[in-house]
Amino acid sequence: MIANLASLLFAMADTTAEAAEGAVAAAPQPTDTEPATFWMPPASSTQAADVDWLFYGILGLSTICFIGITAAVVMFVMKYRHRPGHTSSPSASHNDSLEITWTIIPTIVVAIIFVLGWRGYTQLITTPKHAIEVLVTGQKWNWTYTYPNGLVDSTLHVPVDEPVRLVMKSEDVLHSFYIPAFRIKQDVMPQRYTQLWFEATEVGNYRVYCTEYCGQAHSSMDSVVVVHPPGGYEKFLDRAEELEIELSKTNPAKLGEMLYEKRGCKQCHSVDGSAGTGPTFKGSWGTQVQLADGTQVAFDENYVRDSILEPQAQVHKGFNPVMPTYQGKLKDFHITGLIQYIKSLGEGN
Ligand code: CUA
Repeated sequence: MIANLASLLFAMADTTAEAAEGAVAAAPQPTDTEPATFWMPPASSTQAADVDWLFYGILGLSTICFIGITAAVVMFVMKYRHRPGHTSSPSASHNDSLEITWTIIPTIVVAIIFVLGWRGYTQLITTPKHAIEVLVTGQKWNWTYTYPNGLVDSTLHVPVDEPVRLVMKSEDVLHSFYIPAFRIKQDVMPQRYTQLWFEATEVGNYRVYCTEYCGQAHSSMDSVVVVHPPGGYEKFLDRAEELEIELSKTNPAKLGEMLYEKRGCKQCHSVDGSAGTGPTFKGSWGTQVQLADGTQVAFDENYVRDSILEPQAQVHKGFNPVMPTYQGKLKDFHITGLIQYIKSLGEGN
């Protein structure tokens, strides 16, 4: 069963990693990743096997203790229950050998667990020196990754068999970055950096979750890690940047759609008319927007641009002022693309 899942995962991995390289625009969705499993997904990083070994060891030990203690309780209740003709035995006062045994054995067991846990923990927090660095930014409610060449993407792309160091920060509240297949998890905080490192051992796509409740759309704050075969990561970095610039010249609305998917717009703004955390983009172009302060503003190029750069300045009536600024995070040609995309979703009255 495990072998089946692993080979299925591997077969999917080949095609999904390739597809991501071929069309950066179509960022892989979590549904493209590992099949759902009852237990943890197959271990896919260098540290994962040790974590699993210790976890299942402790689980096994706890199960044995649970069954043993429960059986003893049931047995004693039956054997010593009060019944006619049964006289109670006097309470035992002291038994040296028994007491020494039940002190020494658990101490040894706990010490072994501590040493193994400590060893694994130091491995998890000690990053190899030559690791690739990626800056991870958490904000309500998406993850973005900034690569060494300055490229920003909503999918974490990494090479296989090479250590990767994640330097992480939050723009707002506490988040927690979790990749189950790699068995790594770390809180992401505002006002300070935290870090994680891993070395992926299997090419494929894996899920990323936020595991700290961070507000309304916490459950949709997920992402994907694409582990590329050798050479694929470098190719991705080159192509992704080229593609953005190319699209800005040939099809800015398409670039806008891509950014909408990848840069966190989609978590709050729908394109089908339904209201989310923020207003829908569908049919909003050209309308008069009622603002929270009672005034109106035309939904045009300037309104979109201002809302992206200074979201708190003109808040749409009926919505909370929760949008983060994209000042310094989107270039001018990105904003032009988003304007064209929103325009392409139809004009309202
Ligand atoms: Cu971010 Cu939950």
